[in-house]
Amino acid sequence: MKVLGIETSCDECSAAVVEDGSVILSNVIATQIELHKPYQGVVPEIASRLHTQWISQVVSAALKQAKLSIECIDAIAVTNRPGLLGSLLVGVNFAKAMAATLGIPLVGIDHIRAHLYASQVEHPLEYPYLGVLISGGHTVICKVNGYDEIDVMGTTIDDAIGEAFDKVAKHYGFGYPGGVMIDRLAQKGDPLAFLFPGPSLQKGDHPYDVSYSGLKTAAINQLDQFWNGSAEKSDENIAASFQRSAINILTKRIRKALDDTKLNRMAVGGGVAANSLVRRELTSIDKVEVAFPSMKLCTDNGAMIAALGYRYIADGHVSPYDLKTSARVAAFKRSYP
Ligand code: KG4
Ligand code: ZN
Repeated sequence: MKVLGIETSCDECSAAVVEDGSVILSNVIATQIELHKPYQGVVPEIASRLHTQWISQVVSAALKQAKLSIECIDAIAVTNRPGLLGSLLVGVNFAKAMAATLGIPLVGIDHIRAHLYASQVEHPLEYPYLGVLISGGHTVICKVNGYDEIDVMGTTIDDAIGEAFDKVAKHYGFGYPGGVMIDRLAQKGDPLAFLFPGPSLQKGDHPYDVSYSGLKTAAINQLDQFWNGSAEKSDENIAASFQRSAINILTKRIRKALDDTKLNRMAVGGGVAANSLVRRELTSIDKVEVAFPSMKLCTDNGAMIAALGYRYIADGHVSPYDLKTSARVAAFKRSYP
């Protein structure tokens, strides 16, 4: 079964063809990064306008790269939540029109579940496993019992990890997208040059929750110390110290979740899963099999949508042609503790 996956939830306009849920025949990602760069962040209005201009060509390119004509597509999977509403609507309406015209099944895909599933395309793990989603919009630690069955254990109580990377980078003028620039600068910096405080979680907060706003503010406030001359400015040292602290917050919670659940398998997904220190730290956890997506499957892409779409369709779960779109995160079951 050849599934066309369409992803337009944020600033990547992507389409992919995946066969039988595991063979990626194409994965075209048209990034809007350069067009949002002057604003140092994604401008929703610009994002949706560009998706409208690009979607048709991106889907054509995905079919061409897969060497398939449109009639060879058996089903369409599309991200329908969560994300920027105007952007989601472009992909969803395009997918609906295409599926209805071709008379083939359509399935709406949750972006969070797709990130958690991305590594499974190339590195399938046996269920259950610990799922870690670290992106610009989300930070989730969960127990994954099946592709559609997720027990959320912890989330961020404020900023997402990628959002903290992006905001610190924006403040220091490191460039855009911030996470990538911090990762690059940190390679040459001293991770112990600045010691930032840990998260200020309260008694009663969930033990697997994380918090990034305190660290973000501390890293940003450090800039004032540079301005008044009380500390020596080094972009590399700031990047390395911030990155080390951000990843320490995460790994501490992940280790606890692994210990408590006794799980010895873990899948990581989302844009921050591309971070070199995250990959190093999480693969070094003793006696735990870790699945990371390849770099192209970490950030937003149509292949993870098509691959997860295949699972739903193969199990007979399809969406109506009047599929709804939502900017909001779906309610997840929270069963730990
Ligand atoms: O998954 P994604 O493409 O979009 C969301 O669903 O949010 O993730 C984008 C996020 C951005 O915050 C970006 O800065 C971050 O992933 N990111 C990284 C790296 N590459 C992308 N963060 C740290 N290190 C990286 N190498
Ligand atoms: Zn994403």
